[in-house]
Amino acid sequence: MPSTVFDLAGKKVWVAGHRGMVGGAIVRRLASEGCEVLVSSRKDVDLRRQEEVEAWLEKNRPDAIFVAAAKVGGIFANNSYPAEFLYDNLILEANIVHAAHKVGVKKLLFLGSSCIYPKFADQPIVEEALLTGALEPTNEWYAIAKIAGIKLCQAYRKQYGCDFISAMPTNLYGPGDNFDLNSSHVVPALLRKAHDAKEAGASSITVWGTGTPRREFLHVDDCADACVHLMKVYSDDVHVNVGSGTDITILELTGLICEVVGFSGDIVHDLSKPDGTPRKLMSADRLRALGWAPSISLRDGLADAYKAFLGGNYAERVQGNAA
Ligand SMILES: NC(=O)c1ccc[n+]([C@@H]2O[C@H](COP(=O)([O-])OP(=O)(O)OC[C@H]3O[C@@H](n4cnc5c(N)ncnc54)[C@H](OP(=O)(O)O)[C@@H]3O)[C@@H](O)[C@H]2O)c1
Repeated sequence: MPSTVFDLAGKKVWVAGHRGMVGGAIVRRLASEGCEVLVSSRKDVDLRRQEEVEAWLEKNRPDAIFVAAAKVGGIFANNSYPAEFLYDNLILEANIVHAAHKVGVKKLLFLGSSCIYPKFADQPIVEEALLTGALEPTNEWYAIAKIAGIKLCQAYRKQYGCDFISAMPTNLYGPGDNFDLNSSHVVPALLRKAHDAKEAGASSITVWGTGTPRREFLHVDDCADACVHLMKVYSDDVHVNVGSGTDITILELTGLICEVVGFSGDIVHDLSKPDGTPRKLMSADRLRALGWAPSISLRDGLADAYKAFLGGNYAERVQGNAA
């Protein structure tokens, strides 16, 4: 296990985007670190407004920041709102990174996603695959912004010696996920479809595309645990993949979700909808070498996500924004 390079105990830690799925999980995870957690609502600080971000950081002066705020969505939302997916994400990360440098924040972790990698990157995708090929067109707006976020952290480290790091999680799911059918990711979309079909006594559910693409999934509490781990032990300019290290087909995932939900009807394919990248599994080697591995199985995690949905612990983000 690598040694701790940044101790969170006694520190002021700002979780930007705490109302989101990942930000919420990081806040829960930080409860056992002995730090003071700072949060800000969009009403107080619109992260797209530079002067609001600078004023908030000047006043609150955290020691560390988790950048879990972003405009997030699935294929439909990315395709429909390219301007916002590029602009909002570029501007909010630039505002936070620059202001963090200005007020002397000691450590910052920027969250990106696996969409930063080329569409046809060799599998499993190693961190070095970044910028070696063309992106998946359906989410390139978001990906370009996230790549810029990694580069911002690297540039401020290189020029000013800031200890700013980046983590690239795989597909996440869990409590607080977005269940709006137009902007949700695949797990909440399928959980909702299976649930609604069960409730309605329907004979089938429809899955986008062929169901053959392979994807990797991680429970958001595992992701939060990995982010806190990286914050404590990692200090380098290369971004770190955060994943489970295993993948399954969308069809297998759908079957598992139907089991968890208790829906026993048929699975029908809507072939007019895009598949996206054929396979996306990130290499977990760097994170494993840093002493971290996931602890929540996919089946247990999906059951937990469904329980959260039934308990009302979810969001409905129209266009990726909170309703
Ligand atoms: N979900 C996944 O599967 C996944 C996978 C890989 C990586 N990630 C990464 O994890 C991060 C968080 O994702 P998430 O799923 O937690 O997203 P989310 O649930 O949509 O939460 C995003 C958060 O960002 C806040 N936010 C967005 N724009 C803002 C603005 N202009 N001013 C203030 N707050 C703003 C939102 O505030 P409101 O609540 O006010 O809307 C919300 O709290 C992202 O960087 C994403 O790339 C997520």
